Amino acid sequence: MKFDKLPLVAALAVALFSAPGAKAAPVDIGVVDDAGKAILGDAEHGATVFHKCAICHSVQAGANRIGPSLHGVVGRHSGTVEHFNYSAANKNSGIVWTAQKIFEYLKAPQKMVPGTKMAFPGLPEAQDRADVIAYLEANSK
Ligand code: HEC
Repeated sequence: MKFDKLPLVAALAVALFSAPGAKAAPVDIGVVDDAGKAILGDAEHGATVFHKCAICHSVQAGANRIGPSLHGVVGRHSGTVEHFNYSAANKNSGIVWTAQKIFEYLKAPQKMVPGTKMAFPGLPEAQDRADVIAYLEANSK
């Protein structure tokens, strides 16, 4: 092996062997359940939950698909992604997508925004919702 490849090999080894230890701890995303109990979000599991969203959404800025880009969605006003053709229901909902709002929305999107064109039944598990929000936050920087 050539010596000039050594730093690369070393970096790869560090990345490989430190990966389990690098598992991010669940974080407080400012979400509470119906009983007022805080639910921490695990971005790593959220990445798996996001597979359900990824048919329609990307977290890359400006990447609109069937749904608008979710880059930086936490804290954003509803219906404000450029070049995305929202339904009037979403656009005029007046919602600011705080983590708590997204948490409630994802339980049953059509309930919070009647007439939305987001054709997704929702995530029944509170933990899945918190985890996907942690993922969105972690991947919007
Ligand atoms: C079948 C496609 C589809 C799936 C699956 C889907 N969405 Fe959506 N989503 C949409 C569409 C379309 C809109 C725009 C709704 C409108 O204009 O009425 C939307 C809107 C949203 C919004 C509001 C964005 C804004 O700018 O106002 C959020 C937040 C959101 N989706 C999150 C999610 C998350 C998180 C998941 C996965 C748990 C998910 N969606 C799954 C299609 C989808």
